[in-house]
Amino acid sequence: MFDVQQTKAGAHNRRVRMAEVNTTAKGKKLAHPSARAPRIFADTATYSEIEPLYKAGIINGVTTNPSLMKKAGAKNWDQVKEISQSICKLLDPNPVSLELTELTFDKMLEQAEMLASWADNVVVKVPIGGYQAVDPSFDPYTGLKVVRALWERDIKTNCTLIFNSTQAFWAANAGATYISPFLGRLADYAYKNDEVEKAPGNSLYYIDDHKNEKGDQNVFNTEFVASGGKRKDIGSRLINEISAMFTNYDIHTEILAASFRNFTQVSECLLAGADILTVPAPILEKVADHPLTDEGMVRFVEDSKVFDNEPAMA
Ligand code: E4P
Repeated sequence: MFDVQQTKAGAHNRRVRMAEVNTTAKGKKLAHPSARAPRIFADTATYSEIEPLYKAGIINGVTTNPSLMKKAGAKNWDQVKEISQSICKLLDPNPVSLELTELTFDKMLEQAEMLASWADNVVVKVPIGGYQAVDPSFDPYTGLKVVRALWERDIKTNCTLIFNSTQAFWAANAGATYISPFLGRLADYAYKNDEVEKAPGNSLYYIDDHKNEKGDQNVFNTEFVASGGKRKDIGSRLINEISAMFTNYDIHTEILAASFRNFTQVSECLLAGADILTVPAPILEKVADHPLTDEGMVRFVEDSKVFDNEPAMA
């Protein structure tokens, strides 16, 4: 069960060990007060969504995937390249994840080299698994082999489609710079498919093997939805498990929490020990909003009207 009180020490230890991301500006005395704050990335390939968020200092990275590229209007690889390079140029030197679409080791390496040649701040996104789901003859370890090979070539990777903490471990062990646990899809899954709440047991995983009406065991196997307990925070608890594991073993692979659906998940992830949150633009566009902020602001502006028009600047 995700418990904020229990997360404090672990998350603090992890932050202390991680690199500074908000460095103090050159020649300035005022040190940045949140040098090791979690970073926020925009989870979109749409330039018009990214630019205002970047210019407002809200994001310092971008993640994309083939679905987001398609949504941004890319219809061929020339357009994928054009979109990617424009985002990379805007964000430079901050990281921009571009996902591989090839499915076999040699082709993935070749494609990774191509993506990495597009800009210095490209991070190659590698699906951890699912290769045999696409074609049973494929090698199930392809993703992990590619992550390791790219690490050996000094190419940064973001190992994606992570749904449990052991996948996160294997990806980190292979040399991934970032891992992307999809907490929103986990929460969606749990809401839609999981059984009623179970008391948390002494195992991180329930290994139920009940089947759905089509006899599909994997779809309903709660092994794939991390730990039991309250369903609403299932994704955040995954982030917390990974954070604890990575802190215990001083693993510096960054936990890039992904697939957000709402602000609650953002708050929970910040408490759970995520290093980076990649959030869709419609959620990020509302970061400064709250109905009581609106109400308070209207009142302050109204009350300030009784003062002189010319503020004393001296
Ligand atoms: C980011 O890296 C992922 O590709 C993305 O967050 C997936 O989000 P979705 O579950 O909304 O598709």
